[in-house]
Amino acid sequence: MRLPTIALAACTLLAATLRVAGRPSRHSLSPRQSATGYANPTDNGGSWLTTTAVGLGEPLNVIISGESDEGVLSEEGVVEYFRSLFYSEGSCFNITLGNEQAANLGDGQGTLNQTDIKRYNYYLGDSGTCLQSLNGGPHFRYWQQSTTRAWFLATSYSDDADTNHMIIPNGYDLNRDQLSSNATNATGTFSPGGFEYTATRTQAPLLADVPLASINHGIATDGNVDILTVRIRKTGTLGANSNQPASVTNARGGGSSGASKSVEMSTAAMLLLAVPLGASCLL
Ligand SMILES: *[C@@H]1O[C@H](CO)[C@@H](O)[C@H](O)[C@H]1NC(C)=O
Ligand SMILES: *[C@@H]1O[C@H](CO)[C@@H](O)[C@H](O)[C@H]1NC(C)=O
Ligand SMILES: *[C@@H]1O[C@H](CO)[C@@H](O)[C@H](O)[C@H]1NC(C)=O
Ligand SMILES: *[C@@H]1O[C@H](CO)[C@@H](O)[C@H](O)[C@H]1NC(C)=O
Repeated sequence: MRLPTIALAACTLLAATLRVAGRPSRHSLSPRQSATGYANPTDNGGSWLTTTAVGLGEPLNVIISGESDEGVLSEEGVVEYFRSLFYSEGSCFNITLGNEQAANLGDGQGTLNQTDIKRYNYYLGDSGTCLQSLNGGPHFRYWQQSTTRAWFLATSYSDDADTNHMIIPNGYDLNRDQLSSNATNATGTFSPGGFEYTATRTQAPLLADVPLASINHGIATDGNVDILTVRIRKTGTLGANSNQPASVTNARGGGSSGASKSVEMSTAAMLLLAVPLGASCLL
């Protein structure tokens, strides 16, 4: 069947074009730190649940504290940080799979749509998220609390009620734990743009009062939110190499053996990617 091959070629060209076009940058918010690096949304009319199209919400279960280094509190900076955790652009060749969600972080801005969605890229750089988009898997939506500059993430392993993606039992806590484990790796995390980060994790039972009946997919949580405080150990170039799988693995493994290993890995993964990719671009 030739159609997927043709679609793949077309999509690759489209993706390259879009990558050159880039995304417009937004200005960061004015700094105003709280004692804890975040404020409880419910103290000021907000909620620990997002708002979805079906009315139920998803838990805001990871916070990147506003006491983190300045470089991860801007939008471009946090996107680079997310790449160090192998999370990238959540749309597959500009086709966003999954509806937008909204959240009220109690910062006086009311209920706002997500800043964006990020999906696990399987070490493949930004285009690796197409694999996740079609398989379902780790992803998160995120918002910034304007009063503290903390980032609030709704992480999960499930997907939207309006898609046919598998819903993994314990999907909220599971992805919270996996993301935090990755972030707090003792060796640090490494972005394709050359940044190096370290993070510390604390937990607080901030979701304890959220009723199960209000949670999307009816998946229970243990009530805990992870609070990550991120430090930048080494700076780099924002956005550099963001679609080069090799550079991500290079940065982690270092040296030339790391490079050849990652090339093999990405070739195998690209084969896996090819068929669903062709199909997705026909959508
Ligand atoms: C793709 O998405 C970006 C960011 O939302 C937008 O600026 C761009 O116009 C889109 N391109 C197409 C072809 O829709
Ligand atoms: C917010 O998201 C909803 C649902 O996806 C969409 O219809 C609406 O246009 C969005 N609003 C803004 C301001 O982007
Ligand atoms: C890191 O995250 C990925 C994706 O969620 C996951 O498969 C992996 O198990 C995580 N690592 C740890 C140590 O939790
Ligand atoms: C932690 O770092 C080591 C060494 O770079 C790497 O092999 C391992 O995959 C990393 N684990 C996670 C969870 O990121």
